[in-house]
Amino acid sequence: MIKALRKNLLRICLHLLSLIPATWLGWQVWLWVNFAAHDLTANPIEYITDFTGGWTIRFLLITLSISPLSRLTKWSLLKYRRLFGLYAFLYGLLHFLNYMVLDYYFDWPLIIEDIFKRPAISFGMMAFCLLIPLAVTSFKFVIKKMAKSWQTLHQLIYLLTIFAVIHNYMMVKADVLVPIIHGIILSFLLGYRIITRWNKQKSIFKKQLAWNNILQK
Ligand code: HEM
Repeated sequence: MIKALRKNLLRICLHLLSLIPATWLGWQVWLWVNFAAHDLTANPIEYITDFTGGWTIRFLLITLSISPLSRLTKWSLLKYRRLFGLYAFLYGLLHFLNYMVLDYYFDWPLIIEDIFKRPAISFGMMAFCLLIPLAVTSFKFVIKKMAKSWQTLHQLIYLLTIFAVIHNYMMVKADVLVPIIHGIILSFLLGYRIITRWNKQKSIFKKQLAWNNILQK
């Protein structure tokens, strides 16, 4: 029992840390609905949308950072990537539910009109829709069943994070600094990925060339 606890200590800590924003938000919403003093500003619905949207994008960027961080530090962090991806989905779901329930009161014709008429919302919706199959296929038995196609499907995280950053940039009202920082971080992560792929292909090509030379001799 203690051994298992020690083995999973980091995982438990990461879960607890990831749940802090949601717990704080839940507490503030509880105060708000009970007419007590809260920190959700004068426009709680807008605040909740921005708060949950912010945490969705942060978790997406954390998920994308795991692989480069693991390579650079040589720590085995890849096993935690799924955890962060699922928290990105959780906060994304809260973000969308807040928009659908509190902001638009399930007014589907208005929601659909908003999605098609406002490009910023279209990008958010595309990002969220792409996040759904990734969350659904994150269970171990699905990963085993899908094998290679799972990896191909999960490449979608890059595309959806690009959509999410565009949505974030278009949605802010005044200060665009934060979405620009998100965009810069994403560019570094995509750049790193492209360079490592390029190097991998170069070394495969070199090996093939060496083999051909040996065979010709
Ligand atoms: C992965 C998906 C998504 C991410 C990462 C995301 C992220 C964000 C972020 C960071 C903001 C805050 C902008 C600010 O600081 O002012 C935001 C705002 C907003 N998002 Fe999203 N979003 C996503 C999907 C969606 C979807 C599906 C909808 C609705 C269909 C939506 C509707 C909104 C709205 C209405 C706001 C503006 C709230 C306001 O300030 O009035 N988002 N989103």
